[in-house]
Amino acid sequence: MSKIIIAIDGYSSCGKSTTAKQVAAHLGYGYIDTGAMYRAVTLYFIQNHVSCTNPNEVSKALSEISIEFRLDENQKNNTYLNGLNVEEEIRKLYVANRVSEVSAVAEVRHAMVDQQRKMGKKRGFVMDGRDIGTVVFPDAELKVFMTADPLVRGQRRQIELMEKGDLLDLEEIMQNLKKRDLIDTTRTESPLKQAEDAEVIDTTYMTLDEQIDQVCILASYAIAET
Ligand code: DC
Repeated sequence: MSKIIIAIDGYSSCGKSTTAKQVAAHLGYGYIDTGAMYRAVTLYFIQNHVSCTNPNEVSKALSEISIEFRLDENQKNNTYLNGLNVEEEIRKLYVANRVSEVSAVAEVRHAMVDQQRKMGKKRGFVMDGRDIGTVVFPDAELKVFMTADPLVRGQRRQIELMEKGDLLDLEEIMQNLKKRDLIDTTRTESPLKQAEDAEVIDTTYMTLDEQIDQVCILASYAIAET
């Protein structure tokens, strides 16, 4: 049976990453979290005071950044920035607050898209992000676009952060989500939008298991058709 590319795009906190990870595990496919790549670049920009509006600083920084994913002993995917495990750090709100600004920079996007295409050369993976079905792999055999009510997304993000020990006000989280949605959907360079041939899943009233099942069913149809 031939292996396919599954692109999962959509808004933040719709359950994309968890669904993508589980679907990949179910199919024995690889999983690539492209949001983590933009978060790692953002962390580097913050730590090194790189200005998004200075093209020289941006080019220099990009030439110094190396991002990899490595599995730990529990088979959990960890993001490495220049050899350091930054998985926990990149999930923090101070990084989330800057990530849309950094990921709107054309040169940053070109560098990440190039790397994502290289990572995906071998078929048989699930990649989640904002522009996977539209820009990175427009010929993916299965494209899923996830959405959910903003309040539900905020509550989910609050629980996720709480589980990591970050107690944050729902209002603060909602502001961050709103700001990111606005920048992500209106940026000139590959804005977040639904691919015409994407299957739309509204996860507002769905459990994670239901989301995973639905994508697995769609994947089995897509695999059977190839
Ligand atoms: O999926 P996430 O919340 O970890 O993504 C973090 C940010 O990265 C998100 O606000 C938008 C950006 N992003 C992007 O622009 N393109 C992608 N393919 C993935 C993420």
